[in-house]
Amino acid sequence: MDKYRLTVKEVVQETPDTVTLVFQQPEPSITYQPGQFLTLLFQIDDKEVRRSYSLCSSLATDQDLAVTVKRVEEGLISNFINDRIQPQDEIEVLSPAGNFTPTITPDTKTHFVLFAGGSGITPLMSILKTALHVAPQSKVTLIYASRYEENIIFKDQLAQLVTQFPDRLNVIHTLTQPNENWQGHKGRLTSVLLRELLATLPPEEEKSYWTCGPDGMMRIVEEALSEQVHKESFVLTVKEATEVPATSLEDKIHQVEVHYAGDTYHIDVQPQQTILEAAMDKDIDLPYSCQSGLCTACMGQCISGKVVLEEDDCLTDDELNEGFILTCVAYPTSDDVVIKID
Ligand SMILES: Cc1cc2nc3c(=O)[nH]c(=O)nc-3n(C[C@H](O)[C@H](O)[C@H](O)COP(=O)(O)OP(=O)(O)OC[C@H]3O[C@@H](n4cnc5c(N)ncnc54)[C@H](O)[C@@H]3O)c2cc1C
Ligand code: FES
Repeated sequence: MDKYRLTVKEVVQETPDTVTLVFQQPEPSITYQPGQFLTLLFQIDDKEVRRSYSLCSSLATDQDLAVTVKRVEEGLISNFINDRIQPQDEIEVLSPAGNFTPTITPDTKTHFVLFAGGSGITPLMSILKTALHVAPQSKVTLIYASRYEENIIFKDQLAQLVTQFPDRLNVIHTLTQPNENWQGHKGRLTSVLLRELLATLPPEEEKSYWTCGPDGMMRIVEEALSEQVHKESFVLTVKEATEVPATSLEDKIHQVEVHYAGDTYHIDVQPQQTILEAAMDKDIDLPYSCQSGLCTACMGQCISGKVVLEEDDCLTDDELNEGFILTCVAYPTSDDVVIKID
């Protein structure tokens, strides 16, 4: 995975607790798919800390690259970015990654139905802009839940896009804590509200559903839809975070062979240790970002042996069948495990 040093060209205060970092495109420029994310690297107390941030820019409309970061209470990096990052700062990033990426071409006729909650708007903004500008026969409906009106990220940009594409873009906001002048929907995205909104969409159009936001919201979206919905999670639920597969609890060290960037590593993986953790303990520089099975930056293919995954939501059924794994949530359960990382 390539690393780049990007210069912050502009810091835009989107809402009281959210900023957009606009990065100057380097030479040669970085290409990406709408819906992908960048991994930002920071040195904090002599330790490297990585965080993923979805690109809210689109190659179809934006010269520069941009990520939008919302403060998380007590969060290390989101507050650092909101408080400290200034124009001209340089930040190291990894190549764009992630497979929350619809195919959008000039021939695409799909109606994209997007469900966002809070900062989950970021990858959907890139998808929305790309569809509107690249695929003239496509349509977009965005259903976007925020807390307060002043919390709505990209509120003005979205309103401008509705003016520019009145027949192809519909944006429906709902606020959980509206002020008395708010004219739009009020309350959380419930399955009743969702079914009501979905019933207004023309049934004859081909649709594609995409959601990013808090876990509870995405569950409601999945429950309200009978069709497949593509999901991007920014954070693991407590339940998922504590689920270590029972097979990895056995008291046995397994040796794993990893092929990466032309080198071969033999790594002893301790019981209850992931393959990535074991590699990091030995200062082996494998690719990773979220370390929680959410971003796919650490993806590899298991070409021999047995591995169990603590989390596999990010991988498609085809990928799982072909042996693709995420080293950050992968526990070896046999001694002949060989992993290939591209
Ligand atoms: C693929 C991907 C794309 C992402 N894109 C974006 C984006 O576009 N914009 C954005 O603002 N964030 C995004 N995130 C989340 C981001 O990577 C960080 O997790 C987030 O900024 C918090 O980091 P932190 O260092 O401030 O918090 P930490 O110090 O890591 O965590 C502090 C506490 O907050 C909890 N926490 C962490 N993240 C969240 C969250 N998102 N919501 C609620 N609680 C949380 C943690 O469990 C922990 O208890 C994305 C994450 C992934 C995996
Ligand atoms: S590092 Fe993000 S999925 Fe493994």
